This record gives sequence, C-alpha cells and structure tokens, in this order.
Amino acid sequence: MQILELKLLNFRNYERVTLSFDSHLNIIYGPNGSGKTNLVEAIYVLALTRTFKQVSDKVLIRKDTNLTKIEGRLKGDYEKSYKVILTPEGKKVKIDSNKITKISEYISKINVVLFHPNDLKMIKDTPSIRRKYLNIAISQQNIEYLKNLTYYNKLIKIRNSYLKKMYINGQALESYLDVVTEKLVENGIKIYQSRNEYITLLNEYIVPIYKSIALNGTLQIQYRSDFAHKNKKELLAIYKKNLARDLAFGKTNFGIHHDDFIFTLDGMDLKEYGSEGQQKNAVISWKFSEMSIFKSKKNVTPILILDDLLSELDKEKLKNILSFIDDKVQTFITTTEIEKVESLLRDKKCKKIKIVNGKLEEV
Ligand SMILES: Nc1ncnc2c1ncn2[C@@H]1O[C@H](COP(=O)(O)OP(=O)(O)OP(=O)(O)O)[C@@H](O)[C@H]1O
Ligand SMILES: [Mg+2]
Repeated sequence: MQILELKLLNFRNYERVTLSFDSHLNIIYGPNGSGKTNLVEAIYVLALTRTFKQVSDKVLIRKDTNLTKIEGRLKGDYEKSYKVILTPEGKKVKIDSNKITKISEYISKINVVLFHPNDLKMIKDTPSIRRKYLNIAISQQNIEYLKNLTYYNKLIKIRNSYLKKMYINGQALESYLDVVTEKLVENGIKIYQSRNEYITLLNEYIVPIYKSIALNGTLQIQYRSDFAHKNKKELLAIYKKNLARDLAFGKTNFGIHHDDFIFTLDGMDLKEYGSEGQQKNAVISWKFSEMSIFKSKKNVTPILILDDLLSELDKEKLKNILSFIDDKVQTFITTTEIEKVESLLRDKKCKKIKIVNGKLEEV
C-alpha cells in the first residue's frame, strides 16, 4: 500500500499543501515545532479518520478556520482517491467522489501502522488506553470487529440505563434486561474471540522481532478478560449472580469492556519491572508484529510511520529496526537530526522533505 500524493487544506499548521512521495522511503526533517508530526498525522487521519493523539478532532482544523480537508491518492489495484473532511460539526469521508456514510466501511481501506513516542502509554497507562490500541489494530484488519464493538458499547449503555431504571422503579421488567444481557454476552464472546485470536498471533511474531531488536529476552503479551475460558451458559449465570451488585452500582460490572493485556519480559510484568529502553523496544516490536499480521492475514503491506523514533533510540537499535523494513513497505520517518539518519541509510534511495518556517521543501 502506497500513498502517492497528499493534499491538505487547513490542517494543523498547514494552509495548503500538495506533496508527492517516494514509494519506499520518505524522510521528513526540520526543527522542533515545525510540523513534522502534523504531516504524518494527516496520513494517519486519512486512513483512520481520527488522530492517534488523545485529543478531539477539532484541534486538527487550522486555527481561525472551520474546515479541514485531507486528500490522498493511493496506489492499489487501480488508483483511488480518499478524502476526509472535518468541521466542528462532524466528519465526512469519500472514496473517489462517492460519499461513504458508514465510517466503519471506510477505515479498513487504507492501512497504517504508526509509532509515536507517546505509544509507551500502551504499557504505562490504563487498561482503557490499551484497549484503544488493540481496537485500532484489529479494526484495521476486520470490519466486523468494529461493528461488533460499536454494537457492544451501545448494549452497555442500554443495559446500564435500564439497571438504573429497575433500581428506581421496582416494576421494570427483568425479562427485558435478560434479552439485553443475552445479546451483550453473544456479542462480547465475538469480541473476546477476535481479541484472543489477535493477541495469539501477535505473540507468534513478537518473540523473534523483540529478540532481534533487543538481542535478548522473551517478550509476550498476556490477554486478561472476564470472558476467558467461559461459554455462553456460564457467562449468563455470572450475570444473573451479579444482578444485585449491578443494580446497586447502576452499571455492568462484568464484561469485555474491562479487558486488559500486559507485556511480560521473561515472565516479568514490563510495566512494573521493565526499563525505559525495554519498554520502547516492546512497543516497537508490537508495531512490527502488526505489520507482519497485515501481511499474513490480509496480504497487504501497510504504510509505516515512524515519528521521532531516532530521539527514542540509539543508532545501533535504529539500525536493527531499519533492517526490518523491506523495500515493499512505504515508510515515513520524521527527525530533527537529518545527518544521523543519512549516515544510517548511506546511499539508500529516498525522498527528503524539509520543513522550514512551516514551508515544505522537497529535496
Ligand atoms: N490547529 C492548529 N492550527 C495552527 N497551528 C497548529 C495547530 N495545531 C498545531 N499547530 C502548530 O503545529 C506546531 C507543532 O507541529 P508538530 O507537532 O508537527 O511539530 P514537530 O515538527 O513534530 O515538532 P517536534 O520535533 O517537537 O516533534 C506547533 O507550532 C503548533 O502551534
Ligand atoms: Mg513531532
């Protein structure tokens, strides 16, 4: 998968930009705050219709304007043009000139794997952040997963508000709650299975990848779920047993909305015991495993974005990492230190994009 051309209108600090890219390697460089991350963020938004940062879509719109447009031309079986338009009121997406009404039908079309220094949150932060990373990874490969997840979240809302109603009004029918609970369980099982399958696959790839980056240690991801090793009948019995507690709290206390996973290195929890460097290597290994899964499951090579990786790692590690990237992967690397990257790449063919005072120069 390759993006041939990108057009931006009022995206972050860019007013109007038209850029073409190398089909393999693109290096974006410039000083801090110049707009390097913004540029790769635009590619990510084109693929997923939202940013990878924990901020609202509104901040993507250039200050003092009220609409941003990101347009990309992609190489595929035949060339297609993708468009994401954001306004404070909402978003629209288009493929060629056809409006796509369901976002879930758009976001698995362009596949992107991005590394950003903030991704360490995947280890350090809360389960809900980790679930987000997992959801994005699986959704890009499996449209059904995103649909199931959206439906599950809707069912949780319905169930929680009905629990509150039942608590206040003793007359509310328990049989209605049973119907909602059964749907929740059926749908939760599907999500559990997708997550379990994905993490099992990740584990197959992540062991050798981590070893070749860090040189030693066995990295694994352990999935933790209320739904683990339980069938529908057993799960329904648990919901029955928990009813009094759910009523008292006015919410559903059990389910895949509490799922979590941990990284372990030689059996030790990386969040508790890992060094900064080990944590970084683990996250990067996850990203490369994601790439491998795309290849094996969908037979596509996603666009790879490595934002500020250089400041995160020493040269030796970066060299190991760059050696993974084969010529079929279109890669974007951002850096403030162009000389360092150049010395690593030697005379490898690439496109360099320099940003000075918010202006782009193709070198
Ligand atoms: N909505 C917006 N409108 C106008 N400017 C914006 C908007 N959002 C961000 N910016 C500007 O974009 C700049 C930051 O760009 P970006 O994060 O891409 O920098 P960078 O080159 O990646 O820097 P670093 O090397 O520090 O990571 C800031 O100067 C910020 O003020
Ligand atoms: Mg940046």
